[in-house]
Amino acid sequence: MLLNSSVRLVKSSELGDHVELGEVLDSIIHGDCVDVLKRLPSNVVDMVFFDPPYFLQLPRGKRLVRWGVRTLVESPEEYWDIFSSFEEYDRFIASCLAEVRRVMKPNATIWAIGTYHNIFRIGRIMQDLGFWILNDVIWFKVNPMPNWLGVRFTNATETLIWAVRDRDSKKYTFNKEAARNYCYKDWGKKLAYNVWRIPICSGAERLKDERGKRLHPTQKPEELMERIITISTKPGDLILDPMAGVGTTGVVAKRLGRHFIMIEKDERYVSAALNRILAIPPSKPS
Ligand SMILES: C[S@@+](CC[C@H](N)C(=O)[O-])C[C@H]1O[C@@H](n2cnc3c(N)ncnc32)[C@H](O)[C@@H]1O
Repeated sequence: MLLNSSVRLVKSSELGDHVELGEVLDSIIHGDCVDVLKRLPSNVVDMVFFDPPYFLQLPRGKRLVRWGVRTLVESPEEYWDIFSSFEEYDRFIASCLAEVRRVMKPNATIWAIGTYHNIFRIGRIMQDLGFWILNDVIWFKVNPMPNWLGVRFTNATETLIWAVRDRDSKKYTFNKEAARNYCYKDWGKKLAYNVWRIPICSGAERLKDERGKRLHPTQKPEELMERIITISTKPGDLILDPMAGVGTTGVVAKRLGRHFIMIEKDERYVSAALNRILAIPPSKPS
């Protein structure tokens, strides 16, 4: 039996009010995540990767110039990262997370990722909704973007919150041997530290648009997803990524023999994700 032998593109407008799992298994759904999540069945997902807009609140109309060398910085601001206020952002995150929690199995876990801009808000909303936090994991970027203005620290980390659906969820997946091996690679100690050394996505892995510019401003490295998936899922598990970007979760899920459901609202990212996943040969179960 081959796992994840195909990937499907599904438009949210083609789905009914009550979606059967088989209609969306191993698919990228083009649509709004809250709208789509509301139509998915309850208690079906084993793990969630939650990588929402950061709400960076960059100054409007200003061009960022590199300190010293006076060249322009590619702005990471995108239309999907703009919200009118913290209240609007919080409402959006809360409505996504409430539906995400409903579709999770009782022992499923969720990884939410963000920076100082948003992760504290996300953590509070998660606790208010009933998620039980197991760890925060610090992704230490060994090659971070410098702070071009030179007015504050270079932001070399992102925070991942790892949580279970409910406080009394006990039998969640934690592959401690894999966690120890990654720690050995990073720090020379087999102690499953919650600090991971991983470069940001660059080089051939970084998708480019027709002008040769990066296609997505926050494409996550496959190594990050590999650790998350290896440590917190089993072969054949179902992984949900409700804001999938260019599909990094699906790429690694397919490579590691896990099922996936991805949702993304931007058509450019959906088609890039589809092509990326189609290029990966189906994996055999281990
Ligand atoms: C931080 S990025 C995710 C990057 C992704 N992990 C990757 O490696 O490519 C957040 C994504 O959420 C998408 N997004 C924002 N609001 C959305 C919504 N309401 N429904 C679906 N996708 C949404 C954006 O288009 C963006 O691609």
